[in-house]
Amino acid sequence: MGDLFTFHKENLDPEIRANVKKTLVYLDENMKDRELYEKVLDAWTLSLQLNGWKAIEEMPGSGMPEASALGDQSNHILVVIYTSMSIYRNLKKAYNMDFGLNEDMLMACAALHDVGKPYEYNRELRPQWVANDKEFGLPNLRHPSYGVFIAGVCGLPQEVLNVCGYHSPEGRFIKRCAYGEIVHYADDGSWFPLARLCNLNIPKL
Ligand SMILES: [Fe+2]
Repeated sequence: MGDLFTFHKENLDPEIRANVKKTLVYLDENMKDRELYEKVLDAWTLSLQLNGWKAIEEMPGSGMPEASALGDQSNHILVVIYTSMSIYRNLKKAYNMDFGLNEDMLMACAALHDVGKPYEYNRELRPQWVANDKEFGLPNLRHPSYGVFIAGVCGLPQEVLNVCGYHSPEGRFIKRCAYGEIVHYADDGSWFPLARLCNLNIPKL
């Protein structure tokens, strides 16, 4: 996009970026592709900053605003990263095969699957959508759509765009990439066991 579009990385809030870095320390410790790692931090920082949040931890620990919460949003992001990596590594181990995915890319995809949530949970905008869904829709955008916008602005690769946009039930309209399929089951594989373990209300979309 070069000359037509510039992402002003210098305008990202360093305090928010430091908070994201702390939340995603697993990525700092495990990702070899440092350029991709930095873009993951950029994307979370931008989404939080544009929507009035200072840290992933400030957002409720739920899958959607109507659902039960457990812990905060960082617990969810971390479990989806851990579970995505363990699904892929367990498959490699049990089948003794290399399935050809890039583990750095899988980490980035898992870390960013819900990067659109700061908008869906926006504390100023959401009440406006609730009060006037005729005008805005409710929600105005679900997190997958907003996540694609953020990932695109931050120059993340196509694999991440597909996972942001389709890890969720929106994915039933397309063929998800393999990263997206893993993240989808890691996501459901955290919510539905938690629903039974902790008696949570987790709607099945
Ligand atoms: Fe999720």
